[in-house]
Amino acid sequence: MKINGTPYRSVWRDAHDPELVHIFDQTKLPWTLDILALRDEAQVAHAIRSMQVRGAPLIGAVAAYGLAFALQKDASDKGLTEAAAMLVETRPTAINLRWAIERMVAHLSPLSPDSRVAAAYAEADAICDEDVQVNESIGRHGLELFRTLWEKRRPGQERLNILTHCNAGWIATVDWGTALAPIYMAHDAGLPVHVWVDETRPRNQGALLTAWELGAHGVPHTLLADNAGGHLMQHGEVDLVIVGTDRVTRQGDVANKIGTYLKALAAQDNDVPFWVALPSSTIDWRVTDGVKEIPIEERSGEEVTYVHGLDEQGQAARLRVTPKGTKAANPAFDVTPARLVSGLLTERGRCDATAEGLATLFPDLAG
Ligand code: MRU
Repeated sequence: MKINGTPYRSVWRDAHDPELVHIFDQTKLPWTLDILALRDEAQVAHAIRSMQVRGAPLIGAVAAYGLAFALQKDASDKGLTEAAAMLVETRPTAINLRWAIERMVAHLSPLSPDSRVAAAYAEADAICDEDVQVNESIGRHGLELFRTLWEKRRPGQERLNILTHCNAGWIATVDWGTALAPIYMAHDAGLPVHVWVDETRPRNQGALLTAWELGAHGVPHTLLADNAGGHLMQHGEVDLVIVGTDRVTRQGDVANKIGTYLKALAAQDNDVPFWVALPSSTIDWRVTDGVKEIPIEERSGEEVTYVHGLDEQGQAARLRVTPKGTKAANPAFDVTPARLVSGLLTERGRCDATAEGLATLFPDLAG
C-alpha cells in the first residue's frame, strides 16, 4: 500500500544490507512514521512483545526473519530449536506466529547447518510474498461478497456501511490486510463503501491504525466509540461486519481483538451479516473449542488505565484516566463462537464457519 504516494510493505529487507529487516514502529503510528531496523532475534522478540509489530500475519512474518538472524550466530540443531522456542513465546494468541516458525523449522531442519542461514532468509521472504498473494485473494473474494450485498441494497441507500473492529489492514499483514483488503478493492472498484471504525480500546488500533490506513487510501470512514456499534445496527446503519482474526479453530470459532464477541452478538440480534477474513495460516487445526482451548493474552492493566495521544502542542502524551491505584484487567482477545459467524472469507473463497465448511475448502490441511 502507499504512504504519500510511495509503495510500502509492512516488513521488508534493506536494499543495501539484506541481513537487515525494516518495520514501521506501530506504537508511534499515526503520529510518526518511524522506520526501525531489526538485525537480531532479541530485537525481533522485543518488537513483537511491545507491539511495534502486531497483527497475526505480520508477527509471523517478522518472527521468520528473527529465526534467520538467530541462525547467523548458531545454525546448529540446538540453535534452531532454542531460537524457535524463544520466538514462539513472544505472543500467545495469534497462531500465525507458531505457523511461521513451524514452517521455518520444518524447512530448515533437514538442511546442513552451513546452508541454513541463506535458506532461512529465502523462506522468510517466501512467507512474506505468499502473505501478499493470499491477502489479495481474500480481497477479491470479499469484493464479490460486497457486490452481492450492494445489489440487494434498499431503495435510496447511498452507501454500503461496513463495521470493523481493531486493525486487520495492510499494516497488520505484509500487505493488503485481511478484513480491509476487500474494502480497499471495493473502494477502488467504485463501490460506495463507508467504514464504521471501532476505536478498539484499550490500545486503540481502530482509532490509530485503521483510521490512518483508510484515510491514506481515501476510503470514507467514521470512528465509533467501542460501544456504539450495537445501536447503529438496531437503526439499520450497518450492512455488514467484517473483522480479521488471530486464530480460528477447526470448527470455526474465532479469536480476535477483545470486543469482537460483543459485536457478533449484536450483529446476530439485528440480522447483520458477521464475516471473518483470514488466511489459512490462521486456522489452528489442532484445536476445536475456541473458548476452552485458545490461550488469551493478558496484557498490562496500564493499557487500560492510561491513554496515549498528542497534546495541544503535538507532543506525544500519556494520560491516566482512572483514580490513582485503580486496578485493571486486560484480556486482549476474546472468542466468538462459530454459531455467531455468518461465514469465513479465505484465500480459497468463502465457507461456513463449521468443521465441514473448513474441511471442504481445505481438504489438504484439515487432516
Ligand atoms: O493485538 P493486535 O493488535 O496484534 O491484534 C490484532 C488483531 O486482533 C487483528 O484483528 C488480527 O490480528 C487480524 S490481523 C489481519
